[in-house]
Amino acid sequence: MLILGIESSCDETGVALFDASGEGRLLCHALHTQIPLHQAYGGVVPELASRDHIRRVVPLFRKVLRDSGRAVSEIDAIAYTQGPGLAGALLVGASFAEGLALALGVPLVPVHHLEGHLLSPLLSRHKPAFPFAALLVSGGHTQLMRVEGVGRYTLLGETLDDAAGEAFDKTAKLLGLPYPGGAALSKLAEEGRPGSVRFPRPMLHSDDLNFSFSGLKTAAMLKIRDLPQAEEITRADLARGFQDAIVDVLVDKSARALKSCGLERLVVAGGVGANRELRRRLDRIASDCGFTVFYPELEYCTDNGAMIALAGALRFREGLSIVPPGGGFAVKPRWPLESAGSRDVSAVFPDRM
Ligand code: KG4
Ligand code: ZN
Repeated sequence: MLILGIESSCDETGVALFDASGEGRLLCHALHTQIPLHQAYGGVVPELASRDHIRRVVPLFRKVLRDSGRAVSEIDAIAYTQGPGLAGALLVGASFAEGLALALGVPLVPVHHLEGHLLSPLLSRHKPAFPFAALLVSGGHTQLMRVEGVGRYTLLGETLDDAAGEAFDKTAKLLGLPYPGGAALSKLAEEGRPGSVRFPRPMLHSDDLNFSFSGLKTAAMLKIRDLPQAEEITRADLARGFQDAIVDVLVDKSARALKSCGLERLVVAGGVGANRELRRRLDRIASDCGFTVFYPELEYCTDNGAMIALAGALRFREGLSIVPPGGGFAVKPRWPLESAGSRDVSAVFPDRM
């Protein structure tokens, strides 16, 4: 049972082949990142992104077949990222998936991009069992979810403004680091002195599991403006202070989410999940509080086709959202994750429905 996965929601084209028989196994994945293409503009240019996806998707598909030694006729279903993301970019992956599905006479499995992220630790040998809480921290989203199983997601909290990755990227830009600055800022922060620059911890004590990060960017802007006068403070100190503030809030709210749901497993997914300080702090609190944290392998933290192939395989196995060949395709640039499941979770969380 071979599932092809296609990711094209933003600035990475990813294609993967997943063998869904038995335990399930990723056979091969290939990725092309557009980061150098967008760097000159300081952010993703949607039209350039769509055009580049068009150029990359077929060669990556051929590479995956070649590297895995499988024939196109062996593919049993095609999973693609249906949303959320850039409409034009999503359309490239979706229309390629639809065309191929029609040619092969196999079904399509539309996948929610964040579902791919939150299931991505299942690609590791050290897999979490359901149920678990998931901290999704990417460039576009910051959410805490309760995950009962495939397609059974309940939102516990989310950012009210900027996503954590977005805050990292905007502050990195203010510090003169190239796009997308999250990883570069965190590298710079490693050289900074803890406590030398103090940022606020937005919503740390709020009575919910929501976040707010847009104020941090403004705080960073003001501190950077004063940097030339404050000789004893370096850019690295500033990066350190900024990162510590974000990490403090993410760690605290994740621990509270686990406690309030009575869960013992936390999955951390999305690009910011690659952040070393976040991992260090979560591992420390996990051993103090007696829960376990699961991370995807670093190569599956940022966008990739493997997580979409995996999510597609799990949905296919459970008979969730399978579209017959020729059944048409659609993209959903804005799409809440809770509505991507097809199970009723109202019995589990009546107060949230
Ligand atoms: O999940 P992802 O690849 O794409 C989205 O779906 O958004 O996440 C990309 C985000 C970017 O904002 C990037 O700066 C951030 O993840 N990121 C990091 C790190 N590596 C990537 N942020 C903080 N620390 C990192 N090490
Ligand atoms: Zn993503």
